[in-house]
Amino acid sequence: MRMLGHAETRMAPPSGHSLLLICVLGIFALDCFTRGQKNSTLIFTRENTIRKCSCSADIQDCDYSLASLMCSCKTVLPFAVERTSYSGRLTIWFTDTSALGLLLNFTLVQDLKLSLCSTNTLPTEYLAICGLKRLRINTEAKHPSPEQSLLIRSGGEHDPREQPPSLHTGWQTCMYASFLDMALFNRESSLKSYSIENVASIANNFPYFSHFKTFPVLSNKSYVVTFIY
Ligand SMILES: *[C@@H]1O[C@H](CO)[C@@H](O)[C@H](O)[C@H]1NC(C)=O
Ligand SMILES: *[C@@H]1O[C@H](CO)[C@@H](O)[C@H](O)[C@H]1NC(C)=O
Ligand SMILES: *[C@@H]1O[C@H](CO)[C@@H](O)[C@H](O)[C@H]1NC(C)=O
Repeated sequence: MRMLGHAETRMAPPSGHSLLLICVLGIFALDCFTRGQKNSTLIFTRENTIRKCSCSADIQDCDYSLASLMCSCKTVLPFAVERTSYSGRLTIWFTDTSALGLLLNFTLVQDLKLSLCSTNTLPTEYLAICGLKRLRINTEAKHPSPEQSLLIRSGGEHDPREQPPSLHTGWQTCMYASFLDMALFNRESSLKSYSIENVASIANNFPYFSHFKTFPVLSNKSYVVTFIY
């Protein structure tokens, strides 16, 4: 009883010092909390403009006005689009392959979501992505189907092959190459993938695959190639 009484008297009028301490701790916690939530990048192409946004919340796919309202967005010029790498989660809302190819072909992305925001039929064309771990696709604008997700690989933080390609070597040093068949957006069937390890050269291993003749050769070290279709 005496202890409790003692505590109460100590608690009753908080001194200026403890108030200050509480405030400092509160601000610190809030700061940690907001810093802990990493914003994701959303890029959408519409009427020949590219908008690049930083969003703290998930936005309903293809809802352009909601994205403009909720995210911090800016217009980027097509030739100013950096095509090297994206860290964190990247979402792209696109309407045709040419815009998507411009944004994403030969870039480094680990966690990617692609949403087709039109009813366009896409040609069989391959999109090359380096380092892909998780892919999600949404084709709701074309046919009603739930979002699909594919885990290509997990972890690998200590894998030396995990090192992102440097700027000047770029694609040539990519050790995990994924090729996405754009025609998969036309189909209602589920996403499929297969990976082949220790491939010395795409062109030599898949001579029947004429599409890969146009792709620049990777390094002659062994690497993992994943086809997504
Ligand atoms: C995170 O997104 C919000 C909008 O959702 C934006 O106001 C804020 O500036 C973004 N933070 C960073 C670090 O980009
Ligand atoms: C990506 O680049 C390759 C090689 O230039 C090209 O053949 C392919 O069509 C491009 N893919 C897309 C989706 O633009
Ligand atoms: C292939 O790799 C070997 C050693 O691993 C190197 O000596 C050679 O220059 C490389 N060739 C090409 C074309 O990169």
